[in-house]
Amino acid sequence: MRHFTSVEDVNDIEKLIEIALNLKAVPKASEHLGKGKTMGIIFLNPSLRTRLSTQVAAQNLGMSPIVMNFSSDGWQLEFADGVVMDGNKAEHVKEAAAVMGTYFDVMGIRSFPGLKDKDEDYQDNVINQIKKYAGIPVISLESAIRHPLQSLADLITITEHKKVAKPKIVLSWAPHPRALPQAVSNSFAEWVLAAGYDLTITHPEGYELSEQFTKGATIEYDQKKAFEGADFIYTKNWSSFKDYGQVLNSDPSWQIDAAKMKLTNDAKFMHCLPVRRNVIVSDDVLDSESSIVIKQAENRIYSAQAVIEQILKANF
Ligand code: CP
Repeated sequence: MRHFTSVEDVNDIEKLIEIALNLKAVPKASEHLGKGKTMGIIFLNPSLRTRLSTQVAAQNLGMSPIVMNFSSDGWQLEFADGVVMDGNKAEHVKEAAAVMGTYFDVMGIRSFPGLKDKDEDYQDNVINQIKKYAGIPVISLESAIRHPLQSLADLITITEHKKVAKPKIVLSWAPHPRALPQAVSNSFAEWVLAAGYDLTITHPEGYELSEQFTKGATIEYDQKKAFEGADFIYTKNWSSFKDYGQVLNSDPSWQIDAAKMKLTNDAKFMHCLPVRRNVIVSDDVLDSESSIVIKQAENRIYSAQAVIEQILKANF
């Protein structure tokens, strides 16, 4: 593995999950691999889980992590080619990425979409330019359109909790007051389908995700019907892909509550966090035994650790 920015960077998902679970059992098993190596962990946007779990993962592998909050501490970056840089943007990604490439051995970066221009966001320009100019392995800490470390952690968690080989997995939209990216949902669909699971996606009309990520999934506009017999309910809000970046609907009847969870096959409730209580999901679901959101967040360590370990093994 050279880079990790999508499921396509992974040869064998099942094997990667196995590696992650082995690291979870013995977190310092590969401590020697990263000795003397530095990992840059760069954020253009806020984070709790990704920031902390990636540092813990790098430290478990013996690496020295360096975290930078680029949005508040760095120069404003220019990503376009051939522009006259006489505005607010003081540094071009060509130099910034190349410089960071000389400081770090491996680098992770988070960059959210603008949610204004679909074509620009879906080119995933920021992470692709960092990959192009840094000259070192690059890991996505959530890009404009994908969040692969989250999806790997989600699959690790499903592996740990599934009672049958092919559980019914449902991705449900839920309301939110602000326009959120599609990245987590795109990635979850992409990884669940690539892992060979059946996936049902339920959302109000107008919230169809890009078919690039959902090809092979069942789309069900009736949320209650989708929940029938489900083993896992994965909830996330996303803004419209079709009416790009718009909040078309904030219908509270799409909130996940105990009555809906009763329609399932005693399903586990999943969410990547952070989650707005009593907007996305009711307290009684989030605080119930069915909720495995903290286990998901814990698995972010081993998702990152498995990926960084594979990169260290392949590149150094
Ligand atoms: N799930 C997730 O990526 O959390 P953070 O945004 O806090 O990193």
